[in-house]
Amino acid sequence: TAAPATANNAVAATATVITNIASLVTNDPSLGDGSPLGLIQDAAVVIAGDRVVWIGESSKAPATDNRVDAGGRAVIPGFVDSHSHLVFAGDRTAEFNARMSGQAYAAGGIRTTVAATRAATDEALEANVTRYLREALLQGTTTFETKSGYGLTVEDEARALRIAARHTDEVTYLGAHIVSPDFADDPASYVSLVTGEMLDACAPHARWIDVFCEKGAFDGDQARAILTAGKAAGLHPRVHANQLSYGPGVQLAVELDAASADHCTHLTQADVDALASGDTVATLLPGAEFSTRAEWPDARRLIDADVTVALSTDCNPGSSFTSSMPFCIALAVRDMGMTPNEALWSATAGGAAALRRTDVGRLAPGARADLAILDAPSHVHLAYRPGVPLVSAVWRRGEQVV
Ligand code: NIG
Ligand code: FE
Repeated sequence: TAAPATANNAVAATATVITNIASLVTNDPSLGDGSPLGLIQDAAVVIAGDRVVWIGESSKAPATDNRVDAGGRAVIPGFVDSHSHLVFAGDRTAEFNARMSGQAYAAGGIRTTVAATRAATDEALEANVTRYLREALLQGTTTFETKSGYGLTVEDEARALRIAARHTDEVTYLGAHIVSPDFADDPASYVSLVTGEMLDACAPHARWIDVFCEKGAFDGDQARAILTAGKAAGLHPRVHANQLSYGPGVQLAVELDAASADHCTHLTQADVDALASGDTVATLLPGAEFSTRAEWPDARRLIDADVTVALSTDCNPGSSFTSSMPFCIALAVRDMGMTPNEALWSATAGGAAALRRTDVGRLAPGARADLAILDAPSHVHLAYRPGVPLVSAVWRRGEQVV
């Protein structure tokens, strides 16, 4: 818990110290109790500019002009939601109602949202993104990824990415969400569009390329062609893999060194072995299983095999209409075999790993000052008290925003 030599004097004028933190999650095993969460009891954090500059025990904190008393509450790194689909219009209440009366989820509902999104103005899409981001921020999310995928024309996909890029650097081109309804009889031509003209229009606005590798969407060969073309255009791959059935998505993701294989609901032992052998994170999206009444992904099996696991919301109007990382943590602990500590790690450091980021998802000198104060004495309460709005204050890039 050593402070940088400069902290005491150099930062005093402008820095903020948050003191009296009952329990601080740093996600830095070299700090605090030496566990993966790097827990420090009775802690303080010093923020200068957009960075953390000092972390340690409250009694040793340097004096600064601005002092915030955490009042014996817990502090965690801001959540890193590494998988969402926020550029859309409309909702799918009728589909949800039907599902809750016994109808199965089929990704065909995506077409409903594609039609609504194409018909929406830029302003309406922008307003939607802003609204769902505000929801997420109020629940502690300070970094998020979001995707296109409800446009499926050159213009509509590029538009979605331009809107997304106004809100985050973690923008993903998902022209390969489903085969566009305009190409229903000619999927090969749609793949050519996705890997050609649409990619050219979209690549400048995105960091990542994604494909929904699933029966009824894109098969392994199509997914490989799409991701390979994306890589050649400078995008990094991530994959919607093995959500609704067993399939080639996970092993393809590892083969192409995708940052993440997302969903991972149906996994063979070979899939688990592949994930354990590579650097591809398994991102689990319990909101999707909740909302589709599907079987839960087995987080325990993955963690026991030494796979890096992330938790994200998958926020979208079809399969998972939640922006709440605390809700996903509660589900993961109750139904996916995760401990509260593992779930907290996966929702913060795990999400950062899924975005190949080291500046977020942890609280240590040099990291971005993104954190949440919980109205609870420890992060365990996020799972222990499900549905309770425990996030009481949020700092993002060194500024208090909630
Ligand atoms: O991640 N699986 C594909 N895409 C989304 C669902 C999108 C939708 O139903 O609108 C998902 O679950
Ligand atoms: Fe998704």
